[in-house]
Formats: sequence, C-alpha cells, structure tokens
Amino acid sequence: MDIKIIENIQSQTNFDNSNILLLYKGMDNGLALIDEFDSKYGSIDDIICLEKIKKRTFLCGLGERKSLTTEKIRTIAANIIRELNKKNITEINFTNIKNLQLSKKEIEVFVEGLILGSYKFEKYKTEKSTNSLTSIHLFLDEEYCDAVENGKLLAQCNIVSRNLINEPANFMYPQTLAEEAKRLGLEYGFETLIYNEKDIEDLNMGAFLSVAKGSNKSPKFIVMKYNGDVDSDDRLGFVGKGITFDSGGYSLKRTASMVDMKTDMGGAGAVIGAMCAIAKNKLKKNVVSVIAACENIISSKAYKPGDIITSMSGKTIEVLNTDCEGRLTLIDAVHYIINKEKVNKVVTIATLTGAAVTAFGSITTPIVSNNDDLYRNLEEAAKLCDEKVWRMPNFEEYRELIVGENADLKNFSGKYGGCITAGLFIGEFVGDVPWVHMDIAGTVSIKKDKGYKSKGATGEGARTLYYLATK
Ligand code: BES
Ligand code: MN
Ligand code: ZN
Repeated sequence: MDIKIIENIQSQTNFDNSNILLLYKGMDNGLALIDEFDSKYGSIDDIICLEKIKKRTFLCGLGERKSLTTEKIRTIAANIIRELNKKNITEINFTNIKNLQLSKKEIEVFVEGLILGSYKFEKYKTEKSTNSLTSIHLFLDEEYCDAVENGKLLAQCNIVSRNLINEPANFMYPQTLAEEAKRLGLEYGFETLIYNEKDIEDLNMGAFLSVAKGSNKSPKFIVMKYNGDVDSDDRLGFVGKGITFDSGGYSLKRTASMVDMKTDMGGAGAVIGAMCAIAKNKLKKNVVSVIAACENIISSKAYKPGDIITSMSGKTIEVLNTDCEGRLTLIDAVHYIINKEKVNKVVTIATLTGAAVTAFGSITTPIVSNNDDLYRNLEEAAKLCDEKVWRMPNFEEYRELIVGENADLKNFSGKYGGCITAGLFIGEFVGDVPWVHMDIAGTVSIKKDKGYKSKGATGEGARTLYYLATK
C-alpha cells in the first residue's frame, strides 16, 4: 500500500477515486448536503454521491478537537482502512486533512494507524482476503513528509515483530529466528552475530543450555549491534526472551495454555523490531541486543525438576519447575550483555509469567526495575507510542522468596507475586547496572482485531524500545 503526500489540492480532479472528509464536531464541512452528519468520534458514514463534487465521498467523525488523542487518531485511521477494504475501495484521498490542524506527531500516528489497520497474518491461508486499497493520498504540505515517513517506519517495525511472533513454531525455531535477524540486519542496517551451540558452551551459559538441551533443534545466541555514536562509551542493551516454543518441559503445560506458546519469543520479536527502527532512522546511539533462542521441550535429554545448574555468572540455581525456563535463559543473556558487551543500561523484555496476564490482562505491561531514572525514561518512551506500562513493587521481602535451599537461587517460588519474583530473579544478575524489565506475557497478543491491533501478535514493546533509544 502506497501512502503519498499530495500538495496541490487542485490535482484531486486528476484522480479517479474516492474522497474522505475527516470532521471535528461542529466543523463546517463545506458541503451543505451533509449537515446531518454529527461527527461523533468513530462514526464513518456510508457512501454518498454528491453532485457537487462528483466523487464517491466518505465522512468520518473525529469528535471534539480537544478530546482527540494520538491513540484515538491511530485507532480511527486503522478503522477507516478496515472499512474501505470491506467496501473494495482501491484509492482514497484525504482531501481536507490539512484543515484539521494536526501536529507532525499526530500525522505520524495517523500514518501508523493506516498501515497497521491493513495488517493481517494470512501467510498460511491458501485463500487470502486481499486488501483492496493500494494507494492513499494525503493532501498535506511538504513539511509533513518526515512525519509521514516516520509513521511508515514505526508501523513497519511493529509489523516486523508481529510477523516473527505470528510465525508458528514449526517454522520459527532458533535457526530460522537467527536467519531472520541476520536478514533484517542487512536490510535495516545493523550487524548480526550468531553463536552456535559450541560457542554457547564455550561461554559457559549453563542456565541457557539446560533449557535448550531437551530439543533436537540446536540453540542460537543472537547478538545484534548498532553503533550510531562511536565517540561515546554509552551503550544501551536490550535482552529479548527467545523461547521459540514453550511446552513447559517436564513441568508440562496443559494443551489449552500450550497452544499459544509460539509467542514465547515475543521479547525477541520486540527487540528485533526496535533494532530495525533504530538503525533505519540512524539514531545517534549505541545499542546492543541479544537473544538466547531455544525451545523448551521434552526428551530424554531434557532438564528435570530438581536439577541444580550453574549459570554463566557462576551462581547456582535449583530448578524447581522446568516451566520457569525464561528466567534461566535470560540470566545468561543479561550476564553476557553486561560483561561482554559492556552495556551501561539494560532492558529485559519477556513473555515471562502468567501472573502478569492475571494482574493486567492484555492491556498493560508490568515493569520491575532497580532504577527510578531509567524507569521514568521507559514510562515516557511508552507514552510516546501509547503503550501502557506500570511499575510493580520490589520490596526486599519479594527477593527473599527466590533464595535457594540447595543452591544460591531457586527458579520457582510459588505463583503468588509471580511476576515480581520472576523479574527479581533476573535482577540478581544485573548488579548495579540500571535495569528495567518488561513482562509482556499479556500484551504480546490479542484474541480479536481491535483498532490498529490485529488478532494474534501485537508487536508490543518494539516502539517503546525505539523511543527509549531516542532518549
Ligand atoms: N512463557 C510462560 C509465560 C506465559 C504465560 C506467557 C502465558 C504468555 C502467556 C512462562 O515460561 C511460564 O510458563 N511461566 C509459568 C511460571 C509458573 C510455572 C510459575 C506461568 O506463569 O504459568
Ligand atoms: Mn514456561
Ligand atoms: Zn516461557
């Protein structure tokens, strides 16, 4: 789908296509015939054929100017696209968009919504419901060009994440995830290094390897680097959970909760999407991302409840539940990124706990952090793209719950406060480095299309991480 700015309003007569008017409440639409349209937010009027303009014209209400938010703009843009595709429209002109006095940021999110509203994951359907819309013209001044391009990029990177996460686990496994990261690195401009099983052994990543052992698909440790500021020692690190399938291991999940576990590499999807946007926009920042990619699956080689394992840091862990695998892969990744890549700030992003889903559903991402400033930056970054985050308490009493009996730590401490104890478990491996942890188990996917989010993966986190890197 092509989105273009058209500057000269006169040129509209050259287009053999439809128009759409976006209207605030009380706004004069200049078309006497459509006075009864009340411009309530979200209302999209049926086709009207106006003698006066000889065009198929749609009306769309934006409600009161003062109650219009960036989230509402993204949502309405997506809903318009869904509606027009339903009506088999191929080309559309937003002829009065200039009169709406939208800021550059508002145009940017409008474009995001247009693109995200047309996303569907239909790769494996033999009959695809093709989108009819192929071109969109925004009647705007040239000065909005950057905003339009930025909107396209952020939507595209969100879609990169969605595509990776929606891919089923028989196609998306450590090897293919690593290959995708490499391909995207070449396309968007970051470097990708892939460590194989032998390299991972040499790095002594005992916790990661314990989880990976059960699968005949070998683990990959994926490192992505973007150096936009070579004069600076500052390095931001992202660690994404990359369990390409989580069966629970010997602490086996029931089918109902296992069936969605291809999304357990949602954190990996988010960091790859963010890397694409960061590199493409050539941010003046150094960013390193890592993913410890493996499957958590059963075989005679798999790790077992009761095993005691040694992490890369040297700390030992008693495995009380093999379904608490994410934190085991993440601690080796975190230890690596801090000690080998020398990052001085780190974000972990993971579909880590069902407790996060219980607490906040699919709406808000709970955060665990050891640093107020970094948390504030994350909160601001999330606000810039209307993703919702909320900080969890991290009182000392929670930390006591993860102390091991037969080893330094235990990976499971009961389900109560599970989102916090899982986060703090990772926190044991960050030392004094400022750290925020995002548990996207709930926000990673949704069951039904909703506004600019489509059924399946939401790509949550990719845009927040991008904005965090802009800070
Ligand atoms: N990958 C799951 C968490 C998850 C749950 C993600 C639901 C997406 C949706 C994680 O590895 C896990 O299995 N966590 C367990 C831990 C429990 C055994 C303490 C959980 O939350 O059920
Ligand atoms: Mn699990
Ligand atoms: Zn998991």
